[in-house]
Amino acid sequence: MNTSTLKTAVRQAMLVLPLTLLFTSCMETKNQSYLIGDNIAIFYPEGFSGEDHLPSLALIDEPQKVDQLGYGWKLKVEFSVLDGKSIAHINTGDASLYGTGEVTGNLLRNNTEISLWNTDNFTYKLDDGKRLYQSHPWVLGVRKDGSAFGVLADNTWRQNLYLKDGITFTADSKPFRVIIIEKENTTEVLKELAQLTGKMEMPPLWSLGYQQCRWSYFPDTRVAEVADTFRIKNIPCDVIWMDIHYMDGNRVFTFSEKDFPNPEKTNAYLHQKDFKSIWMIDPGVKKEKGYHVYDSGTKNKVWVQTADDEDFVGRVWPGDCVFPDFTNEEVNQWWANLYKPFMATGIDGVWNDMNEPAVFENTEENEAVMNGLTDMTMPSDNKHRGGELLPASSHLRYHNVYGYLMVKASREGILKANPEKRPFVLTRSNYIGGQRYAATWTGDNASTWAHLKMSIPMSINLSLSGQPFNGPDIGGFEGNATPNLFAHWMAIGAFFPFSRAHSINGSKPHEPWAFGKKVEESCRTSINRRYRLLPYYYTLFQEASAIGTPVMRPVFMADDKDLSLRKEQEAFMIGSDLIIVPKWSKNPHLPKGDWKIVSIDGENSADDKYQADVLLRPGAIVPLCNLAQSTVDYSTDEITLLVNLDESGKAKGKLYTDAGEGFAYKNKEYTMVHYKAIANGNKVNISTKFEGNYFNTQSKINVKLYYKGEVIEATGGYTDTITVNL
Ligand code: GLC
Repeated sequence: MNTSTLKTAVRQAMLVLPLTLLFTSCMETKNQSYLIGDNIAIFYPEGFSGEDHLPSLALIDEPQKVDQLGYGWKLKVEFSVLDGKSIAHINTGDASLYGTGEVTGNLLRNNTEISLWNTDNFTYKLDDGKRLYQSHPWVLGVRKDGSAFGVLADNTWRQNLYLKDGITFTADSKPFRVIIIEKENTTEVLKELAQLTGKMEMPPLWSLGYQQCRWSYFPDTRVAEVADTFRIKNIPCDVIWMDIHYMDGNRVFTFSEKDFPNPEKTNAYLHQKDFKSIWMIDPGVKKEKGYHVYDSGTKNKVWVQTADDEDFVGRVWPGDCVFPDFTNEEVNQWWANLYKPFMATGIDGVWNDMNEPAVFENTEENEAVMNGLTDMTMPSDNKHRGGELLPASSHLRYHNVYGYLMVKASREGILKANPEKRPFVLTRSNYIGGQRYAATWTGDNASTWAHLKMSIPMSINLSLSGQPFNGPDIGGFEGNATPNLFAHWMAIGAFFPFSRAHSINGSKPHEPWAFGKKVEESCRTSINRRYRLLPYYYTLFQEASAIGTPVMRPVFMADDKDLSLRKEQEAFMIGSDLIIVPKWSKNPHLPKGDWKIVSIDGENSADDKYQADVLLRPGAIVPLCNLAQSTVDYSTDEITLLVNLDESGKAKGKLYTDAGEGFAYKNKEYTMVHYKAIANGNKVNISTKFEGNYFNTQSKINVKLYYKGEVIEATGGYTDTITVNL
């Protein structure tokens, strides 16, 4: 939401709600509930005050009443207050529950309990991972008949979420409102969630490529060496990441004289080799006179304050730090402006980390962090000044949106610096709705089998909470991956929406070639599969940005009514047409029907130690491109269609293309190609229909029809109807 949209939201809020309800806390209101859209209801508790909760940071528009709640409305919210906590309870019967954002544990969230309090939780040790870096006060429910609902607590304050005997939110806030969506299936609920909380913007194509990170690649010559090795070894890669060692003593918006004396040159080198670069920026600013960010921030009074009206000082990587107060528009402007000279060095994307915000306590930071012993943030009674849009309030209110507000400001700054380019921001902390501003990764996991397996339900549940662009550190962050673990992790990590390997300071090398020839070969195959599937991924991301459907999905979305799929958390879906079955998954529950195992890049997963099986849905056509070493050489000139006919002998699919960068696609500069296959006697005809204005050549189509144990091939021009003889 930009500033003017937020202002509109406040104005709309004022039209819909009585002024007293918006801006006084003493006003007691009676319970109210009504419809705010097609099968979407809002529930207000007695005592709700806009002063404590508005404007909403989850919703893009303030809800407006459209009708009364009908008699048939299924889910009601019971509000209560106990021991100073505000409670909202919803009886959900025996529905399967999902979502709840970034959590550890099983995909199915029934009988779990989590804490919504963004926490720097190294290897998920603290509270057994029941609170992590992000807050999504959101639950998706799926009933036995496949009908679905979503429950959103519109509340940024600290709260707990219990999913036992229904759904219970218990918050350290005044009474808060709850929104319930009722739809015929999961997809429709997720589309409505995106309608309410916003969609991700179309990402640059390069951000869908494979990415290589570690804490840290330094000096600059090492960065170049890693980049060169990818090209020499023919392992596709699009991005090299710069972690904190590039900075001068961990001071944000500076470069180390010793290790990165010429960032322009480093970026130019990477660009010349067809890489993009992403550089880290944390919120903690070193408290040090003479350092330009500290001096200008202090002059502009941008820092979060203590309860005693002092600049709050806490320790992070650079030592004592102060923290920008992103609840204020002028602070955001100041922050956004810092990106201009930074991006001008040729930086392509930004990594906002430690933005829960993480603050080390007065112990040795490493000991405390490594042992998961500290709460790792600033005091709850710290003060945020607010501004024209958000009211002044405590850190207890704004803690869970600190990262969200930071990435919103970062995104605005990056866009201002490079107005012709699609901004890319990766964030560790966020809040529901934050998909509008940044992609995310699941923080500091470990190089263990448990964490490899856990990454699947974690990423699916994030995807079911409105964040399509997410993934874990491939290989695991903490520790040294064994060759076997690394190869298995890459074999599935290459399919996650966000696909990046990362590893902790001091670990052994974790590049695809660092584990011996066999693992290198396997990683190349895994990443090649990703690159050949890019047309399919890009089309899915377009869909996510247009209608809010997730890229990574649970298998149960293939058949909402098949109860045997509800707990499946090893196999996962990419879009609606592919299921990925990890090699180590022994008896996954898969949907009925003739799903076919397909080869993406000539590999045969049945004979391979690591490669996951990729299953193609009956009735689907999935487009592949030719292999490229980076998206700079991405081309849809020659497309291969994987086709699997359904029982009635039909299949369809689509392919979205645009410039891969910039905003011309918003003015219809894109092409959507629709493919249709129809069997007729012993022939299958495959036809193509184009829509949109983007000039793109597609001169050759290869068809691979998976039919009765065979792969039947045919080729043709892009306007031809291609006939496959059965
Ligand atoms: C945090 C991040 C990690 C990064 C490290 C150093 O632990 O989660 O990804 O490498 O900080 O910046």
